[in-house]
Amino acid sequence: MKLKAIAIASALAITGTAWAATVRDEPIQPIQPAKVTNPALVELGKKLYFDPRLSRSGFISCNSCHNLSMGGSDNLKTSIGDKWQQGPINSPTVLNSSLAVAQFWDGRAADLKEQAGGPIANPGEMAFTHDLAVGTLRTIPGYVAEFKSVFGSADVSIDKITQAIAAFEETLVTPNSPFDQWLKGDDKALTDRELAGYGLFKESGCVACHNGPAVGGTSFQKMGLFEPYKTNNPAEGRAGVTGKDEDRMNFKVPTLRNVELTYPYYHDGEAETLEEAVEVMGRLQLGRKYSEQEISDIVAFLKTLTGDQPTFVMPILPPSTNATPKPNPWQ
Ligand code: HEC
Ligand code: HEC
Repeated sequence: MKLKAIAIASALAITGTAWAATVRDEPIQPIQPAKVTNPALVELGKKLYFDPRLSRSGFISCNSCHNLSMGGSDNLKTSIGDKWQQGPINSPTVLNSSLAVAQFWDGRAADLKEQAGGPIANPGEMAFTHDLAVGTLRTIPGYVAEFKSVFGSADVSIDKITQAIAAFEETLVTPNSPFDQWLKGDDKALTDRELAGYGLFKESGCVACHNGPAVGGTSFQKMGLFEPYKTNNPAEGRAGVTGKDEDRMNFKVPTLRNVELTYPYYHDGEAETLEEAVEVMGRLQLGRKYSEQEISDIVAFLKTLTGDQPTFVMPILPPSTNATPKPNPWQ
């Protein structure tokens, strides 16, 4: 009996070491490169992601607010929508968003496909309807032919549109950051300061909420645990979905991957710099006041989470025809 226990223990120890040799045993795991199973679907999704004809104005595409040249965000406090409307909330990055438990700050969409239908019909964003978006694409022979070759039928539907956009978004992952190189065993990938920052991030408890491959996106948490969060933004977080009072100010923990690129921070975009965001997190979420040195170490660590940005050939969109509804940017 005893021998058996020892045998199991040593077997565990051996597998433990073998695993550690490939990836360090940390609360954060490396981002895996995208596995593309249906390249034609991804290519169609890429076109749709960049196509402003899915908006009423003919001017706003997914990329307007989730700019893939700027970390998949718009770097604005809150987004600009149809007719230059001021958006209610900060635009989160689309990079690595496939790794999150749910979509949106309050998690009201279960996955990327469900999410993608939202902005097209949101009057404050692209301000179209699904029927009008579908109708527009049906007048564009280049799209009709592409839907046919991807789906086997020329019928364009919102279901197929969102499926294609989601497939493209699943490719928007950012592997190979310096931190991931360190996770995979390269001791030289991080400087002493960056490592000290990671040590603080781990020991002081940031990893309780910011963990997993996306360094976030795994749970909903209260913003303002030790001190209430003061903001003029009316968003109430998860309570808007569950209707439960205890979910007030619970937000999806944002990913910290590429956080150096996705300023400004928080659902209201009120934290302009990473230093400010880290200082507030320490105080409100952990009851801890960091020194300037500690903040700058943690910020140095956070910057090691910037990975390889998605690269691809810009899609050339099939041209409209005489039958295509004209864009309507002014009324
Ligand atoms: C006018 C700006 C705007 C446009 C256009 C826009 N989005 Fe967004 N997007 C936002 C904002 C703001 C949020 C956060 C909304 C919320 O959480 O309530 C968001 C949230 C998301 C999320 C969730 C990310 C997360 O971490 O929760 C994804 C994914 C996304 N958008 C993809 C898209 C796609 C795909 C399109 C095009 C079909 C699109 N967006 C068009 C502004 C925009
Ligand atoms: C109790 C859970 C929890 C802990 C602990 C926590 N965070 Fe957060 N973090 C959140 C939530 C929730 C948000 C989103 C808040 C909002 O938008 O109002 C957030 C947002 C952030 C942001 C802004 C990201 C963005 O894109 O807007 C940064 C940076 C951040 N946290 C870093 C840290 C650091 C560093 C620590 C440790 C000092 C930490 N967090 C500890 C839950 C937590």
